[in-house]
Amino acid sequence: MSARPIGIFDSGVGGTSIWKEIQELLPQERTIYLADGKNAPYGEKTKETILQLSIKNTEYLLQQNCKLIVVACNTATTNAIGYLRKTYDVPFIGIEPAIKPAALQSASKTIGVLATKGTLTSSLFHSTAKDHAKNSEIIEQQGKGLVALIESGKLHTAETRELLQGYLKPMLEKGIDYLVLGCTHYPYLIPLLKEILPSGVTIIDSGEAVARQTKAVLKRDGLLNTLDNGDGSHQFLTNTDVALLQHFVSEVAATKTVDYLDF
Ligand code: SIN
Repeated sequence: MSARPIGIFDSGVGGTSIWKEIQELLPQERTIYLADGKNAPYGEKTKETILQLSIKNTEYLLQQNCKLIVVACNTATTNAIGYLRKTYDVPFIGIEPAIKPAALQSASKTIGVLATKGTLTSSLFHSTAKDHAKNSEIIEQQGKGLVALIESGKLHTAETRELLQGYLKPMLEKGIDYLVLGCTHYPYLIPLLKEILPSGVTIIDSGEAVARQTKAVLKRDGLLNTLDNGDGSHQFLTNTDVALLQHFVSEVAATKTVDYLDF
């Protein structure tokens, strides 16, 4: 058992979609969320830069005595998690696009994946797609510009709608029935996506699966917090705008013990 916090990092606010799932499934756990918004978006950076940023975030969270780290960013997962697992002595949970459940459930066997350039060009993404979607066609689309819009709070604007419509059009023309969100920022676009997509297209993201995996690994390693009684405390650290981060977690955080800090 361990009352040490779970560390979670992302290139900005997107990983709060994962934080929400984790705190819902594991309400007794303490968490520290690190938003590296100053360096967002990661998706357009080189593999080496993404790795260096992931190392910096990891080392910061380890200095805060985190017992497990969730890399709540698809781009950082696909480009850095192998190195992080080899180098540091804590378990890491990564976020991979939910291609497997989409491939299992798709009737048209045509699946859309919306993700960053960094994720779609990684070898981990391609091996996952090859292993889990052998009988499906995957229509990949880079969501260039979407993370920047989300980081500036533009979730439901004409500009965001227009960009999304352009990205979805080729997928819809190919007959997708599942859309996999391969970036932890994108769940914040679900209300807009639901307006654009026909009703026959199901949206899948990885949040719940990541929370379940986090719980399983904590249990496996004897690290679950059995001391705190349903009231884990939460710290949110950002190197950009505290108010923006607050906005993204406010609904859930209103009922929790939460600190917002700069780092
Ligand atoms: C980004 O920073 O470009 C997106 C993060 C992600 O891939 O989840």
